[in-house]
Amino acid sequence: CGIVGYIGNGSTQSVLVEGLKKLEYRGYDSAGIAVFTNKGLEVVKAQGRLVNLEAKLEDEPLVGTAGIGHTRWATHGKPSDANSHPHTDESQKFSVVHNGIVENYLDLKDELIAQGHTFTSETDTEIIAHLIARAYDGDIVKAVREAITHMRGAFALGVLTEYEPTKLVAVRQASPLIIGLGDGENFIGSDIPAILEYTRNVYILNDGEMAVLTQDSVELMTIEGNFISREMIHVDWDAVTAEKGGFEYFMLKEIHEQPKAYRDTMLGRIDEQGEKVILPELKLTPDQIMNIRNIQIIGCGTAYHAGLVGRNVIETLVRIPVETDVASEYRYRSPIVSPDTLVIVVSQSGETADTLAALREAKANGAHVLAITNVVGSSIARDADDVIATLAGPEIAVASTKAYTSQLIAFYLLGLYLAEVRGTQTPEAVKEMIQAMQALPEQLDMMLEQSESIKAYAEQISHHEHLFFIGRGLDFAVAQEGSLKLKEISYIHSEAYPAGELKHGTLALIEDGTPVIALVTQESVLEKTVSNIKEVSARGADIMVITYEEHAATLLKSVDQVFVIPKTLPLLSPALAVVSLQLLSYYASLALGNDVDKPRNLAKSVTVE
Ligand code: G6P
Repeated sequence: CGIVGYIGNGSTQSVLVEGLKKLEYRGYDSAGIAVFTNKGLEVVKAQGRLVNLEAKLEDEPLVGTAGIGHTRWATHGKPSDANSHPHTDESQKFSVVHNGIVENYLDLKDELIAQGHTFTSETDTEIIAHLIARAYDGDIVKAVREAITHMRGAFALGVLTEYEPTKLVAVRQASPLIIGLGDGENFIGSDIPAILEYTRNVYILNDGEMAVLTQDSVELMTIEGNFISREMIHVDWDAVTAEKGGFEYFMLKEIHEQPKAYRDTMLGRIDEQGEKVILPELKLTPDQIMNIRNIQIIGCGTAYHAGLVGRNVIETLVRIPVETDVASEYRYRSPIVSPDTLVIVVSQSGETADTLAALREAKANGAHVLAITNVVGSSIARDADDVIATLAGPEIAVASTKAYTSQLIAFYLLGLYLAEVRGTQTPEAVKEMIQAMQALPEQLDMMLEQSESIKAYAEQISHHEHLFFIGRGLDFAVAQEGSLKLKEISYIHSEAYPAGELKHGTLALIEDGTPVIALVTQESVLEKTVSNIKEVSARGADIMVITYEEHAATLLKSVDQVFVIPKTLPLLSPALAVVSLQLLSYYASLALGNDVDKPRNLAKSVTVE
């Protein structure tokens, strides 16, 4: 989602709409603005693209001196006018735009309903307007602070009240927010592009901080109310770089957004003690879960590869047989489906025609269909019986990165949830895995700090015509995704092979200097993989290994290079290992001078079968 806010004597409506245009790539399910006009706080919102909002505003322009705007990427509640932001309380005196998720919103909603509040949307955001209204006793800053003491989760907020029209309040808690400083006017934005046309002077809020803006002043404070000072930053990016968050390509930006995507996808889905997965969105009942006889996972491209990891995760944790299919093959192989079959379709866009057709086939055969998708209002999300939304945010680069890894997180959560219901894992094992999952974002941050270290190797392989990825078990699943990524954007031919299968044919292709990338994170088969590495090394291959620190020294004896990833549990290693392969493809593509975000012949979303 994207947030913009303005206070000043300029054209409030056009600042908001222009700002939202720059943020539309962050979400386009719906958009809306609230402006303080001479009639009070007026709100206009519209489902769909921003042009719909613009059309409405042409009929009823909003003229005023302060306003907030939002472009939405649905998380809680489907895309609709009612679920669009800004949200107001019943008195219509308080208006809120929000990015992020209020984890405990259902509890808060129940509490507010019991106190007589009524709601008009399904969103978590509407409760924020009500909480602020409830707390208000003449001081909006105090009321916002009081309201957020009740909220758990991630949020960036822009708040206006009709009672204090000279103030715009902004809050940041684990969701980005910046303040733009103008002359006789000030701004807020979830991203720099939103305000770049008007000012290049910004304050960047940290987590747990808030700001009170008037036309002529900006006060910064912690959410506890202690005033703070912050150095102003002058942004010298051009508009295009700003849209990419300062990165050269969307793909690199999206690679770097993965720690956040992990956090967001886990948010609200793990209990406070970190002992259990909760998936309140699922309609699938415990009885149905007990009766599941088989699971089929279906997707295309990268989403299919996430399914390969999903199969291993579910079979290991839940001991239910799982098949995986490429969607375009599924329908034509007469799959064996019964009412006790759970079909999981995986799709970033939720619009892939092959996947949608497979979903319909599965439903027609009586299966319960659960979609793992990044687009809540998509065709696949609408047609499925159940949806687990990945909260990666919009993905722009054709080569999928953060959507894939968020799909892995969704499979981990689902696997643990099914295991809890069926009692196939001990509470200790579940807790251990949850803890390890919660450590992933930080581990990934560490990895990304060293991302340049893979650049030199990427440049080296970019001169080759063929290369191989090998691994066993989950390492093989990751190898397949790494190989696809490389082909998609660098156009270098590569193949992923189960490490033990190489000797049954493919070894014939290994020559002096052929690059082989080996994934070695699955310790139960470590020795076997090392033997396979030796087989290719003996044929002259140039080997790069991705492994844990503790194996690096030993492996370096038989290979040319080692890239170390942080240690995690065997099931979770794909969520870290794949990132080094994403970076490898990215830098290889860059070295070759390709258009990384828009590879030849490919499209982000393929809506033909
Ligand atoms: C297209 C894209 C791939 C993507 C696949 C599935 O082919 O180029 O990157 O993995 O579709 O897309 P989906 O949106 O269903 O995940």
